[in-house]
Amino acid sequence: MMDNSTVINIGLMGLGTVGGGVAAALSGNADAIKRKTGRTVRLRKALVRDAGKVRNPAPPAGALTTNPEDILADPDIHIVVEMMGGDSPAGEYLERALAAGKHVVTANKEVMSRRGPSLLALAQSQRVNLLFEASAGGGIPIVGCLMSQLLANDIRSIRSIINGTTNYILTRMARHQTPFADALAEAQAQGYAEADPTNDIEGIDAAYKLSVLGSLAFHRPIPHHAIYTEGISRLGPEDFRYAAELGYAIKSLAIAVAEANGSVQARVHPALVPEDHLLAKVDGVYNAVEVTGDLCGQIILHGQGAGRDATTSAVMGDILNILRSMGNADGPPPLPLPDGGGGNSEARIWPIDELASAYYMRLTCADQAGVLAQIARILGDGNISIATVIQKDTDPGSGTAQLVITTYPAREADVQTALAAVAELGVVASVNNLIRIEG
Ligand SMILES: NC(=O)c1ccc[n+]([C@@H]2O[C@H](COP(=O)([O-])OP(=O)(O)OC[C@H]3O[C@@H](n4cnc5c(N)ncnc54)[C@H](OP(=O)(O)O)[C@@H]3O)[C@@H](O)[C@H]2O)c1
Repeated sequence: MMDNSTVINIGLMGLGTVGGGVAAALSGNADAIKRKTGRTVRLRKALVRDAGKVRNPAPPAGALTTNPEDILADPDIHIVVEMMGGDSPAGEYLERALAAGKHVVTANKEVMSRRGPSLLALAQSQRVNLLFEASAGGGIPIVGCLMSQLLANDIRSIRSIINGTTNYILTRMARHQTPFADALAEAQAQGYAEADPTNDIEGIDAAYKLSVLGSLAFHRPIPHHAIYTEGISRLGPEDFRYAAELGYAIKSLAIAVAEANGSVQARVHPALVPEDHLLAKVDGVYNAVEVTGDLCGQIILHGQGAGRDATTSAVMGDILNILRSMGNADGPPPLPLPDGGGGNSEARIWPIDELASAYYMRLTCADQAGVLAQIARILGDGNISIATVIQKDTDPGSGTAQLVITTYPAREADVQTALAAVAELGVVASVNNLIRIEG
């Protein structure tokens, strides 16, 4: 058994935004770490791609390496902290670290989404920890909550805003009536969006995180590729204006709902959220996760979903938890996790066609009598009941107007079929948007 005087050597994989924050915290907070855990930590190696880059803070002399073997093959490194990102080679490095009996902390949503169940099973069989608080929700401690504090609950649903980039863009569009392309350019100029923003604006990043959170909540793997994703690029400033008139904000939500028959809804898409709901008030780069459980009721965690300091908080929390559990002869407790030894198979994910939801639709139509009657007939034939209709922004030049319709809950497949028929009407110039209404 490891005694308390042993220095715990840490190998960092990645020394960028998050890795730099963790390196600074390991050296700057060494006394506090010793006080809180009884352990002395040392940054022994830090893996990077480019050893010539200027680092702030500078890593300890001799720590920087471009050779992963300096960490993976070093028996004196006890904890590997992966902050490189991407599935490969990070995933293979984590497998090797666990197989070598090292504890692992990762901030990597893609690896945990794609390989979480097998990595967790490996960690369990090796009797080491694999912790991943920063992989979903950045500085919001939602992973630990689902794994421990909320474990007694039967979790019914997760509704979340877990991509700060899209939330920043949507907030700009709502507040300043900024077109999507301009809001995206602003997000890039502010450093909130990457040069290639596809993963964020198409919902892929949120799907990885939802896969991690949903798997923890429902104790079954929720593969990210089965999650329905829809991006935000179709939204126009007018959608935010009309939604506000109807009493809603527009947010990109990542939603997982456990259905009574054991299947799971898992989807990422823009949604109208009632403006008095807490999720409607989450603005800018902030994130929030609402969890509903049978015992806890509804809980909302709100905070910074990204950024160096907030993410360092999550990674360091995992490291300190490992330091506190080290030396325990029983090893870490069994993980209450997707396939965490229980052999749970993947959840059946509903196809989006089976969803029942209320909808907002915006059409550009001829500004003439009888148009609404034609549309209403098609919707009625498809079992879709209209809740509200507003006509807006008449354009005398083109002789068109914007027609905004909300519906009562209807089947997604019926709505899609009906809208396709509506689009064929001679009086309909275009179907501009269809947005689900949540709550
Ligand atoms: N940034 C955030 O706010 C945030 C929040 C939550 C979670 N995360 C997650 O944290 C992880 C890291 O994100 P980040 O923003 O810190 O990324 P980053 O700034 O791009 O840093 C990545 C680091 O990994 C190194 N690296 C990448 N690929 C490598 C390879 N094949 N071999 C060796 N070194 C390699 C890079 O080396 P060089 O420095 O030499 O290029 C760099 O130091 C990702 O999984 C991300 O999803 C980030």
